[in-house]
Amino acid sequence: MYDFDTVINRNVPGDIKYEKIEGIDDLIPMWVADMDFRCLPEVRDALVKVAEEGIFGYYDPDDAYFDAVTGWFRRRYGWEVKTSEIIPVPGVVAGIVHALNVLTQPGDHVLIFQPVYGQFERCVKWNGRIPTICELKNVNGRYEVDLFELEKKIREDGVKMLLWCSPHNPGGRVWTMEELKAVTDLCMKYDVKIVSDEIHADLTLSGRKHIPIAKVSEEVAQNAVILTSPTKSFNMAGIQAANIVVPNAKLRKEIDRRSFASGLFGLNKMGITATKAAYTYGEMWLNELLAYVEENVALVSCELKDTGLSVMQPEGTYLIWIDGSVYAGKMSPAKVLLETAHIRVSEGIFFGQCGKDYIRMNVACPRSIVKKALERIKKMPE
Ligand SMILES: Cc1ncc(COP(=O)(O)O)c(C=O)c1O
Repeated sequence: MYDFDTVINRNVPGDIKYEKIEGIDDLIPMWVADMDFRCLPEVRDALVKVAEEGIFGYYDPDDAYFDAVTGWFRRRYGWEVKTSEIIPVPGVVAGIVHALNVLTQPGDHVLIFQPVYGQFERCVKWNGRIPTICELKNVNGRYEVDLFELEKKIREDGVKMLLWCSPHNPGGRVWTMEELKAVTDLCMKYDVKIVSDEIHADLTLSGRKHIPIAKVSEEVAQNAVILTSPTKSFNMAGIQAANIVVPNAKLRKEIDRRSFASGLFGLNKMGITATKAAYTYGEMWLNELLAYVEENVALVSCELKDTGLSVMQPEGTYLIWIDGSVYAGKMSPAKVLLETAHIRVSEGIFFGQCGKDYIRMNVACPRSIVKKALERIKKMPE
């Protein structure tokens, strides 16, 4: 049994999640997407070994690295990926930007569904492309794609690329094969390239299984770029390691070149070592982590029932999307929580205009912290 209950002191300079806020000395940070748990012991041991050797020269991922990555994809999602299809890069966002630059030209339209991880819109805009925004529909408390709206927007704006988040951050959807098929059918119909950010793939709850978009069909795989990473699953975001999977050889060559052209290519020795250890030894740790997170989610859903805050039940991720309209006024709901309860959650507006009355709460922390936060929230005036 792994220990997820111990509270670890992260009050150290430079820790983004625990950044000090003036005037607040009992802050509970439940915002940025990293966890308050110590990472897998095998990852730590492997990194210590490298540190003790003290050799930090240039280093390439070796065969064992690719075996660990492809083995994980096979065991976890029944997805067969060849070593030659993988491009290691220092982060998923870097991979998104490489794909964006290869698949589109400045001024092209890129479709994103909102609410979604705020870097999507920024990456599109700040790289000179135009975001076409399609809002997800809230159907009985869970997000769905409005296919009619999607087709209309693709046609009207001549969309060239879809930037897709699967599983979905912040709504926690784990998309079904039917949904993936419906969305990708439209992409194929209008020759829209697909970039699928699957960083949350391992974090599925209630026995749900993530389906890599490349598994929809060979045709979809040939038109898709898939971003994967062990860093969210194993709490090592600061290690900065990701793998781009590009089944299409021509696209792959261009994306590989692009990564070199930008200078954002490859991994360092720590990234390679940590990835290898996580994907080789992490199965049990991850399963126990998911069970723990699931109980935290259940606790939040139950305790917030009578508070006026409305929880969207996540099917995946350790992030909970909560309708905070009850607090909306002059200040955003996130600001109200910060000022009144000293709890820092993510601002809904980061995920798009339609998220402005929402908050996103990260529950990947010891249960005692979740309980303390819930006690404070329950004492807040509506
Ligand atoms: C959907 C999504 N993509 C990418 C990232 C960041 O990835 P990276 O740190 O590897 O660039 C996050 C972090 O929260 C995320 O939620």
